[in-house]
Amino acid sequence: MEATELNVVTGAFSFSGRFITERLLAQGKAVRTLTGHPEREHPFGSQVGIAPLDFDNHYALVESLRGATTLYNTYWIRFPRGQITFDTAVENTKKLLLAAAEAEVHRVVHISITNPSAQSPLPYFRGKALTEQAIINSGLSYAILRPALIFGPGDVLINNIAWLLRRFPVFVILGAGDYRVQPVLVGDLAEIAVAAGQREDNFTVDVVGPETFTFNELVHLIADCVGSYAGTIHLPPGVVLFLARLIGYMTGDVVLTRNEVAGLTANLLVSDSEPNGVVPLSQWLRDNAASVGIKYASELTRHYR
Ligand SMILES: NC(=O)c1ccc[n+]([C@@H]2O[C@H](COP(=O)([O-])OP(=O)(O)OC[C@H]3O[C@@H](n4cnc5c(N)ncnc54)[C@H](OP(=O)(O)O)[C@@H]3O)[C@@H](O)[C@H]2O)c1
Repeated sequence: MEATELNVVTGAFSFSGRFITERLLAQGKAVRTLTGHPEREHPFGSQVGIAPLDFDNHYALVESLRGATTLYNTYWIRFPRGQITFDTAVENTKKLLLAAAEAEVHRVVHISITNPSAQSPLPYFRGKALTEQAIINSGLSYAILRPALIFGPGDVLINNIAWLLRRFPVFVILGAGDYRVQPVLVGDLAEIAVAAGQREDNFTVDVVGPETFTFNELVHLIADCVGSYAGTIHLPPGVVLFLARLIGYMTGDVVLTRNEVAGLTANLLVSDSEPNGVVPLSQWLRDNAASVGIKYASELTRHYR
């Protein structure tokens, strides 16, 4: 199939960008990725062009976006580390948008999160609201997609819950475990993203799957699927964070942050909108029970080494 149109995807060799890329290539589009990890293993062979995700080189950033019709922006950080804070991530997103406008990119499909708010005390959700505002102010045609929790091959949270359930006799649930999550399959998000790239109107939409779980239900569902006999206990956030730090020493990772605890327990990973993801997590877990949680997924290995 002859490639007709160039699309730029941040993180084509990472998680959601990989699935967006897969769909764009299947439609015969040419894809260039902006990434900090050009050497990472990926399934695309030489089909994907590569440029650095270097926010401090404006000229190179503009050149890497030149000729693209649409930018699919997945860039964000999970937690601040070293020089990179949430404020830096907001500024980096603005630099990317400025470069896209200068390169005359027509449209941006931006991945945000459910329930962003400029008034939020949580820097992740506040930063997301600020980047959404930057998208709206950018002058580019835009679609803003707000997924809740994303699951699928390569995810971190669902995989690592399964990993813990496979290895330890007890799983610690944060607080009452009655806060809810509405997971969406990464492939469904990618499908919605690519369809959004082909529209012309500016819009913002939540991207959520067909099932909503309390955290208690989620843990029990994953335990059943992976055949775990681990018991569960409920502990307060301070103790859970302490235990998460111990697991962090073991795995060389940041397992859970105070901000993530606050976001989860404040019910920010659910939506009032009609579900637009189609694959239920329960079904996906049944189909992938043999592989989910076999290997720990490390955020620090992915993004800081
Ligand atoms: N994962 C979820 O459950 C979830 C839920 C709701 C919303 N979201 C949003 O969905 C979007 C994509 O998430 P994802 O999980 O698919 O992300 P990802 O693939 O792990 O990363 C997306 C992009 O951000 C870059 N990146 C990530 N952390 C970085 C860091 N610390 N320093 C520099 N660059 C970094 C990656 O760089 P490389 O190309 O170098 O890897 C990649 O280009 C994000 O905006 C996220 O906020 C995710």
